[in-house]
Amino acid sequence: MDLKDRIALVTGASRGIGRAVALELARRGAHIVAVARSQGALEELDDEIKAMGATATLVPLNLTDFEALDRLGAAIAERWGRLDILFGNAGILGPLSPLGHVTPKDWQMVMDINVTANWRLIRATEGLLRASDAGRAAFVSSGAAHKCGAYWGPYSVSKAAVEALARTLAAETVTTPVKVMIVNPGPLRTRMRAEAMPGEDPATLRTPEEVAPGIADILSPGWDRTGLIHDIPSGALKTPQPPA
Ligand SMILES: NC(=O)c1ccc[n+]([C@@H]2O[C@H](COP(=O)([O-])OP(=O)(O)OC[C@H]3O[C@@H](n4cnc5c(N)ncnc54)[C@H](OP(=O)(O)O)[C@@H]3O)[C@@H](O)[C@H]2O)c1
Repeated sequence: MDLKDRIALVTGASRGIGRAVALELARRGAHIVAVARSQGALEELDDEIKAMGATATLVPLNLTDFEALDRLGAAIAERWGRLDILFGNAGILGPLSPLGHVTPKDWQMVMDINVTANWRLIRATEGLLRASDAGRAAFVSSGAAHKCGAYWGPYSVSKAAVEALARTLAAETVTTPVKVMIVNPGPLRTRMRAEAMPGEDPATLRTPEEVAPGIADILSPGWDRTGLIHDIPSGALKTPQPPA
């Protein structure tokens, strides 16, 4: 119960990686502020969290509603005056098509959810992370940020941007107790992976539950590294490309 009474904001908590990490953090004693659009799935998560003796606050919202993110930051400030954990996990795949065929609407949607919502969350909660005695943040990237394969343009660009966002926040908080990490989960058995690779047998993939404990570790007060990639496929901590 090393996270007892710590306040953890998890985006994309309704399913997949976010749900598994929310449950793992709750198992360790954290109070989960669970964000996603699907109210029913959030209520099921709440039932599971309560069954393990922990607590959650459900925040059904669309991450493209940026003002709602401001209000969420204000509500956390009013209720707890601090935020101990920010897990910026929610994301969408967007269209898999040549760059020139992507519609401006689809492009904007991927950037809004995968990038801008994380920046707006940072804007709304950075002061609260600094108010914690051990504020921890992690943002979920992908191998696609570096691979930049054909037809994965919006997703790859958005994940490269998320890494830049996290590294910048790490640099800006380096003299504070706040630690900021990037997570590369690798291929995991989730709805997004099935959408990206419909021909793949999901049974061959690791599950979010298998990797959740390692992610919870980097969100815990005992974690003392910042600005690195927690690369789940290799099990290594990777240093992003240093500046030239
Ligand atoms: N699975 C993999 O193999 C893999 C590999 C590399 C990186 N990732 C990254 O891991 C993260 C989690 O992905 P996953 O595989 O767990 O995907 P998933 O099962 O599709 O879950 C995505 C989560 O994001 C939430 N979400 C999406 N759009 C939202 C919006 N507009 N507002 C609020 N919440 C929204 C969804 O909730 P609602 O639909 O309820 O809103 C859901 O909880 C993503 O950032 C993804 O890019 C996954």
